[in-house]
Amino acid sequence: MAGRTILFLGVILWLSLCLSSPVAHGQITDPQEVAALLAVRSNLKDKDKNLNWTRKTDPCASNWTGVLCYKNETDGYMHVQELRLLRLNLTGTLAPELGQLTHMKRLDFLWNKISGSIPKQIGDITALELLLLSGNQLTGSLPDELGYLPNLSKFQLDLNEISGPIPKSFANLPKVQHFHMNNNKFTGQIPPELSTLPLLKHFLLDNNNLSGYLPPELAQMPSLTILQLDNNNFAGSVIPDSYGQIRKLIKLSLRSCGLQGTIPDLSGLRRLLYLDISHNQLTGKITSNTISQNITTIILSNNQLNGSIPSNFSGLSHLQKLYLDNNLLSGFVPSTIWDNITFTSDTKLDINFENNLLSDISGVLDIPPNVTLKLSGNPVCTNANQRNIRLLCGPSNGNEEAPQNLDKPVLTCQPQSCPIRDHFEYVPTLPNECFCAAPFGIGLRLRSPSISNFLPYRDEFDMFITTNVYVKPNLTLYKYQLYVDSIEWEAGPRLKMFLLFYPEYTNNSNTFAESEIQAIANTFAGFTIPGSDIFGPYDLLNFTAQGPYSNVLLPSLGGGGRSKGALAGIILGSISCVIVVVGVPKVTMKMDGVKAFSFEDMQTATSGFVITTQIGQGGYGKVYKGTLADGVVVAVKRAQQGSLQGDKEFYTEIEMLSRVHHRNLVSLVGYCDEKGEQMLVYEFMPNGSLHDLLSGTNINYSTRAPLNFKTRLHIALGASRGILYLHTEADPPIIHRDIKANNILLDSKWTAKVSDFGISRLVPVSEDAKGDSNAQISTNVKGTPGYVDPEYFLTRKLTEKSDVYSLGIVFLELLTGMQPISHGRNIVREVNAACGSGMMVSIIDRKMGPYPSECVKKLMALALRCSLDETKDRPTMQEVVRELENITTMFEQQSSTGGTDTVPEMNVINRFSPGSTSVGSGPLSSVYDRRSPYVSMDLNSGDLVSGVIPTINPR
Ligand SMILES: *[C@@H]1O[C@H](CO)[C@@H](O)[C@H](O)[C@H]1NC(C)=O
Ligand SMILES: *[C@@H]1O[C@H](CO)[C@@H](O)[C@H](O)[C@H]1NC(C)=O
Ligand SMILES: *[C@@H]1O[C@H](CO)[C@@H](O)[C@H](O)[C@H]1NC(C)=O
Ligand SMILES: *[C@@H]1O[C@H](CO)[C@@H](O)[C@H](O)[C@H]1NC(C)=O
Repeated sequence: MAGRTILFLGVILWLSLCLSSPVAHGQITDPQEVAALLAVRSNLKDKDKNLNWTRKTDPCASNWTGVLCYKNETDGYMHVQELRLLRLNLTGTLAPELGQLTHMKRLDFLWNKISGSIPKQIGDITALELLLLSGNQLTGSLPDELGYLPNLSKFQLDLNEISGPIPKSFANLPKVQHFHMNNNKFTGQIPPELSTLPLLKHFLLDNNNLSGYLPPELAQMPSLTILQLDNNNFAGSVIPDSYGQIRKLIKLSLRSCGLQGTIPDLSGLRRLLYLDISHNQLTGKITSNTISQNITTIILSNNQLNGSIPSNFSGLSHLQKLYLDNNLLSGFVPSTIWDNITFTSDTKLDINFENNLLSDISGVLDIPPNVTLKLSGNPVCTNANQRNIRLLCGPSNGNEEAPQNLDKPVLTCQPQSCPIRDHFEYVPTLPNECFCAAPFGIGLRLRSPSISNFLPYRDEFDMFITTNVYVKPNLTLYKYQLYVDSIEWEAGPRLKMFLLFYPEYTNNSNTFAESEIQAIANTFAGFTIPGSDIFGPYDLLNFTAQGPYSNVLLPSLGGGGRSKGALAGIILGSISCVIVVVGVPKVTMKMDGVKAFSFEDMQTATSGFVITTQIGQGGYGKVYKGTLADGVVVAVKRAQQGSLQGDKEFYTEIEMLSRVHHRNLVSLVGYCDEKGEQMLVYEFMPNGSLHDLLSGTNINYSTRAPLNFKTRLHIALGASRGILYLHTEADPPIIHRDIKANNILLDSKWTAKVSDFGISRLVPVSEDAKGDSNAQISTNVKGTPGYVDPEYFLTRKLTEKSDVYSLGIVFLELLTGMQPISHGRNIVREVNAACGSGMMVSIIDRKMGPYPSECVKKLMALALRCSLDETKDRPTMQEVVRELENITTMFEQQSSTGGTDTVPEMNVINRFSPGSTSVGSGPLSSVYDRRSPYVSMDLNSGDLVSGVIPTINPR
């Protein structure tokens, strides 16, 4: 116990810490930014009262909805780093004062109904990285000033009504990677100047009223991967030859652009996956140059292309869609297009050659079931003498996309014990296995995917998402934790999808921690998932946090979260004095090896004390399983109202507990004394309690073998040594007062550790105990029925021998598997009666298997001596330990000479009725079932918001 230090960290120390920064503004937001936010607020209408921004409070310090701050150590102020106002039904306009939030990195008004124009002052926010304004009703034109933002990487304005030209000044955005400006009313020429943008990857300007010509210079953009300009009017323009040479291009989509001329040589597009140049006036032949081998989609419909279908469409192993309909193509229908495709149940190939001049089939047409081929409107249909060809010539239904539904996997486990009403579901993990867990939902839309059929890419998508979503630093999700629940193709084509995330499978948790939910949500809201060639950029539509997550603070409310506008204003950046102030207990204390945790630490560790993390309950309060920020798993014992102690007592106790160290005692990791709560944090014992083990209710149980005699003896000896230490070596000595099978826990190596000692249970050195230093007189008896020393019960006189009595009961449980009191019968009387009539064998727990009868007899004798009524007749703890050591030695000698008897099966008489919970009804291994819910669920799901993805109709 050397080297323990108690550090009192008082207000004075705190003040001096705070004053170490040049200006001590503490938690105060930069006044200019406060004024700016108030101006922003006054320009917004918030009919659903989602914003709690009031003049009386400080934006950063009191966590205004959607205002995320950091502290700048240079000027000492808090600054707005992010405005995250996703889907809050806000109307009104964007105030010019937004420009005064110069520290802001992310400005997010996604999916509101903001109108008016974009203020040019946003161009003053030099720190701005993400400008996210999609899905509003913004009008007016784009101010030139936005073109000079030195840090802007994502410029996302799609689904608004912005008009006017794309400013040339945008060529000055050195870091921009994403122009997502589709579905607006932009007009005029695409400025060729944009070709100098060094990092631009996604150029999405589809569904606007752009005109002029397609600038050949765009091909010079070194990073361009998606060029999507569909539904504009470049009447008379050609597709520049240079577009066939954009080295990194993945997707070229120029549908319905009024384009003329011929298709350029596309052989330089080595990475192309998606080509759509349909609905133009393109003429000439389809060139037969090499095509990227991984291409999924070729759409050349509704042009005036002539010549024959080139042979190089055959052999594309990833092809999903080949639409050449409504052209002037003649010659043969090639019959080898699908030859290189390995079809699975998910793979399909759609071919549409309708309304051309195709007159014959090359070779034998043998169409696999996964291929659809449409030929109507071709001469081959009237000429056809082959019956199977006429089948392909049915009436045209165009290229309508049938909604694709995903089949839920068939589960082979039984869902009856999964409380589905609380939004728990069975999760398929490994083949034929599943577990019950609560999912967290996210609505996404792939804005510009490079595939036409998602199913073959489903695994790849799962991997892509789960390996990029961090739930903790350095910890991503497993693939099985993601389930794509539904997908729907929308105009664009864009792919709307609903994802369900499930917690990691562990033996005793079936919910995410709140911090994990927030981490997942932040990954999507912060757009930190790197780009994917195949899946392209995504829109975040909503979060669905129901059931156990209904109170989790999310970056947005869309479809989930708190009932009203709840966005945690997270204080980013340096740990500031604010946090210290909020959590300063009256006295903070540090002891070697024992940590002071904040209430938030505890909340995070236990997912907000969600009932599913509860692992026990006692008179003192509830016990939760938690995971600390460093990944250490702990048991958190949370005092309930009525069990709280005075500060002094609480700290005295912690200080005392911090000095109790023994391998057979559960050690204290830390404590929390904040917000009127008292909690003790202990090491977590993965093998649960002896009680659960014996009664067969242990669900954490990591081995299926029932407890054999050797293990039971080992547990008895371990527990006894722990108690002996409390009685004789702890300073001051401790009488446990509540020894029971529930308080004997087992670590991963089956070492017994005694828990729950020392809670206001010091051996008194008080006047109460005059004349008898080993006794405490108290008015109410503490302990658990069945384990309470009868003499203590009668006399109220507590001694170490009271612990010996309780331990004797535990030994009897170990030997018989009975409970201390069951169906009104007392274990001591039952065992005495059986042994007295020579029937000891009949009450030995048959789950123990073969056992050495001599050792069992000796242990039984010891157990009965410990549980004698008279204090003086019981052995001391030293004697108990010594006797157990003797039995162990004897057992080891017998084992080495092979002397182990077997209990004859027919002699086993179960003294307790079969319904008795004390014995259990089968081998322990049968109660191990990962599918059963681990904790009884009594969740109040609260204010649920439906998980329906709102429909946004892109034009
Ligand atoms: C603001 O948020 C921080 C971090 O989440 C938290 O510690 C603090 O208690 C909150 N303050 C208020 C007034 O809600
Ligand atoms: C703090 O503010 C100063 C002045 O505005 C700025 O130069 C500096 O970059 C800021 N620090 C951080 C960490 O943002
Ligand atoms: C937004 O408005 C819709 C329709 O009135 C409502 O259902 C939804 O709950 C609102 N969302 C928020 C966050 O207030
Ligand atoms: C605003 O709401 C957030 C999230 O619910 C909360 O943390 C914060 O304390 C509230 N602030 C004010 C000033 O009410």
